[in-house]
Amino acid sequence: MNIVCLLGSPRKKSNSSTLAKRFVATAKKLGAKVKTYTLNDLKYRGCQACMACKKKLEKCALKDELAEVLEAVQESDVLVMASPVYFGDVSSQLKACIDRMYSFLKPDYVTNPSPVRLAPGKKLVMVLTQGNPDEQAFSDIFSRYDYFMKWYGFKESHLIRACGVREAGDIETRQDILTLAEEIARQVCSN
Ligand SMILES: Cc1cc2nc3c(=O)[nH]c(=O)nc-3n(C[C@H](O)[C@H](O)[C@H](O)COP(=O)(O)O)c2cc1C
Repeated sequence: MNIVCLLGSPRKKSNSSTLAKRFVATAKKLGAKVKTYTLNDLKYRGCQACMACKKKLEKCALKDELAEVLEAVQESDVLVMASPVYFGDVSSQLKACIDRMYSFLKPDYVTNPSPVRLAPGKKLVMVLTQGNPDEQAFSDIFSRYDYFMKWYGFKESHLIRACGVREAGDIETRQDILTLAEEIARQVCSN
């Protein structure tokens, strides 16, 4: 099982990265191969809407450090997207990467019943951490991205979410959610 883990936080001791790494550690013990990318360390731009991926290429035309990440996502069985909640959404680092996944859509994606260039059946694991302790607040984020990933042919999705974690390292006291990350890794790796 090939896992690609995208870390969307710019922080050291990041809460979302800590949860994603806990997931990854368990998955590795179960035999998964993992590629982890700290997006903030990479130089890349968001989608330029040049439409080259629809008109002349089968992939994104931008030759920057996200090109390897997009290739790895294409080859993965499991995609982990970890992010802090910033202004009610994922971080700009992760959002720019997601926008570049527009290149996975075929030119006739609006009408084509098989609209994506990805093999079907991938699994999504989304990790979200937010300062606000209210679980209702920003609970729409996962469902919005899950909707798009289902359209992209993903068959299964999981959410690891911590509310009320604000300072870097706050997650260390949330044993229940750290344990959940391990449990979800076992579920994902078991089928
Ligand atoms: C630019 C910025 C925007 C933020 N926006 C929100 C927000 O909209 N809602 C919220 O609950 N927390 C917000 N926070 C707090 C972070 O979500 C919180 O600190 C989280 O634990 C960070 O995760 P990380 O340690 O993985 O970076 C924001 C923090 C920053 C720096």
